Amino acid sequence: MNNEKKFRLGVLGSGKGSNFDAIAEGCAAGNVPAEIAIVVSDVADSGILQRARERGLRAEFIAPGKFRTKLDDDAERAFIEILENANVDLIVLAGFMRILKGEFLRVFANRVVNIHPSLLPAFPGLESWKQALDYGVKFTGCTVHFVDQGVDTGPIIAQQTVPVLAGDTPERLHERIQKAESELYPQAVGALARGEVQVQGRQTIWLSPR
Ligand code: GRF
Repeated sequence: MNNEKKFRLGVLGSGKGSNFDAIAEGCAAGNVPAEIAIVVSDVADSGILQRARERGLRAEFIAPGKFRTKLDDDAERAFIEILENANVDLIVLAGFMRILKGEFLRVFANRVVNIHPSLLPAFPGLESWKQALDYGVKFTGCTVHFVDQGVDTGPIIAQQTVPVLAGDTPERLHERIQKAESELYPQAVGALARGEVQVQGRQTIWLSPR
């Protein structure tokens, strides 16, 4: 029997949880050598918490406090405490709709990753698939990146392209991007769990062939 401690993930999300599901599937199938130690949401009735409970995982709601786009100080402290107590090695943002800064990123320096629905640095911020369609690009996609103090600015770990098709609606394009996300995010988290990704400044280096 392998008694080695498993790499522990803390997943944060506010929405339906399709990225969480893809990573949980990857863990269950053994493609992601990690376990989901805890799922935390700022939305009590979010799909992600429901999906986590259905999988028998620890799922916790923490009220975000008085702001709309970030956590207030008490909430930030509560998030830090629950994740520290859960002994997580990596924090995986999966549709978490609050900007994390300051103390949270100091405590978990270089241990927070996110997936964004565009080829960063193009179209940071909200509804990136709409931004891509409005701009008229022929390709967009998704990006897994480390989280730093900026918004969608941290070192890029992996990207996958998605073509913009003639007659695309925002909904159709978003759906195809989400399909790409559910392939890319487990691959990237798997590589991180295996210790195969090194960061050098803004560059990340994959030690395994992709
Ligand atoms: C994804 O499209 C991701 O790019 C963005 O938020 C969305 C979350 O969707 N960060 P889900 O909750 O994983 O289904």
